[in-house]
Amino acid sequence: MGISDIAEIAKMAHENGAVLSVDNTFASPFNQRPLELGADFVVDALTKFINGHGDAQGGAILSNDLETMDRIRYEAQVNVGSVISPFNAWQIFRGAVTFPLRMERINQSSLEIAQWLEQRKHVTFVSYPGLESHPYHDLAKRQMKGFGGVISFGVEADDKTVEKFCAHLKVVTFAVSLGHDESLIFPQPSYDERIHLYPPQFQKGFIRFSVGLEDPQDIIQDLDQAFHAVGL
Ligand SMILES: Cc1ncc(COP(=O)(O)O)c(C=O)c1O
Repeated sequence: MGISDIAEIAKMAHENGAVLSVDNTFASPFNQRPLELGADFVVDALTKFINGHGDAQGGAILSNDLETMDRIRYEAQVNVGSVISPFNAWQIFRGAVTFPLRMERINQSSLEIAQWLEQRKHVTFVSYPGLESHPYHDLAKRQMKGFGGVISFGVEADDKTVEKFCAHLKVVTFAVSLGHDESLIFPQPSYDERIHLYPPQFQKGFIRFSVGLEDPQDIIQDLDQAFHAVGL
């Protein structure tokens, strides 16, 4: 859940003859608009918040550089044939109609849940850009309208207990992916991988949580009962 300064990186890229492409999937275009911050390209997995129902896959590339967009369209769609199926396109189009409403709810619920997690014992860290404790909270406030639906947190437990905790959840679904109507939870890579990826405070019991459209109090109660079920 790190935050990058898009305007600053765009400036550095352009001063050095590079272009900047931003994967905006986690933030979503409701919360963050990289082209307005100076990025040249944006990619978005429509599969996630924009479709929002976890039932269709798609992707988008956006740019104000119409000449390059024409080349990408020609090479990706005409030559390679990566064209979305009509049914997926229809599902994503339909999901997009409620996208802003869903994001408002997800932004609100995520902050509430992140704040609750921060207070809970046995939670070692909570990383959510909407929290004042996030090291890049001020930057997030400058470049984002809301802080999105993904929270990382750690629990004081070994990998087996973390898996059991996830399996005890009843409202939240134990599955990878993000940006669905349902809340999804997934433990992060095994301890052996984590020690190479993260600083020590993030190495134990690392969980990724994607907040869905359920009542935030139902989600909190569910997390709480799963913590109790594994003795945390
Ligand atoms: C940041 C990000 N970008 C792009 C994708 C690609 O999404 P998909 O191929 O599922 O549409 C993912 C999938 O997890 C992602 O997390």
